[in-house]
Amino acid sequence: MDLGLEGKTALITASSRGIGRAIATEFATEGCEVIICSRNKENLLKTATQIEDKTQQKVIALQVDLSSQESIQKFLEEIGDRGKTIDILVNNAGGPPYKRHYELTDKDWQESFDLTFLSQVKISEAMIPLMKNKRWGRIIFVTSVAVKQPGMLIANSQRASLAAYAKTLSNELGEYNILVNTICPAFAVTDQYYLIADEVARRSGTSRDKVIEEWLKSVPLKRPASTTEIANAAVFLASEKASYITGNCIQVDGGFVKSLF
Ligand SMILES: NC(=O)c1ccc[n+]([C@@H]2O[C@H](COP(=O)([O-])OP(=O)(O)OC[C@H]3O[C@@H](n4cnc5c(N)ncnc54)[C@H](OP(=O)(O)O)[C@@H]3O)[C@@H](O)[C@H]2O)c1
Repeated sequence: MDLGLEGKTALITASSRGIGRAIATEFATEGCEVIICSRNKENLLKTATQIEDKTQQKVIALQVDLSSQESIQKFLEEIGDRGKTIDILVNNAGGPPYKRHYELTDKDWQESFDLTFLSQVKISEAMIPLMKNKRWGRIIFVTSVAVKQPGMLIANSQRASLAAYAKTLSNELGEYNILVNTICPAFAVTDQYYLIADEVARRSGTSRDKVIEEWLKSVPLKRPASTTEIANAAVFLASEKASYITGNCIQVDGGFVKSLF
């Protein structure tokens, strides 16, 4: 199937590992030039080389700390200096902490807001004028089923806000042929998946394996997603085949969310 992505430039944030890396790899496989970024330079360069070797596509790797406004500003200037106009923006970031309401400090709320909400708004706002000029663009937010289902307090609160931002943005940008959608994973095998499993295990005095076994009982498909399965949704939403899909919040969750919609 021709997805119409060849020759496009895709920026995927927080992409040296996990879901972001898989998304970058799949866009490169479809013939996109990709820009990846994260904090750890060594991981970032290793990932860039791996994607280039696998896909023969050019990968630009830029260091950024998405929790810092200053670092984001520098990162955006670097993209501008390279003369890059972004066709596809995939907004991804590290996740918020797993804590109960009485454990969350002001610092937790602020840091999580800066990383998972504000960074994505800032980067979107920087890319939108260029997409408007081209009258073509895709903005995809990688959030979580926490948008739709309770489970992690800070994630529920802030992810739902971001999904609301994405929805209203899709209304404002539709006339420019810029499509805005949100992808909601539940369980995907990454470092963060194991990190949270370890934290839940520590709190409940059980093992990582037991925690994961319990989680997967509530997933109709009885298994976690691979990162590629999440990435496939991003590639589809960016493609010409999804040209009438905007303002949606799409679960890639093996059926985990319990609501009808
Ligand atoms: N995996 C799941 O089961 C699952 C489920 C629901 C939602 N999600 C959400 O999906 C997103 C991706 O998760 P993941 O599982 O792929 O995580 P991951 O495997 O831990 O990867 C996180 C990526 O983000 C980068 N990153 C983290 N903090 C950053 C920062 N301050 N600035 C720049 N880059 C940063 C990391 O690189 P550096 O550390 O080098 O910066 C890494 O490349 C998260 O928002 C997560 O909450 C994941």
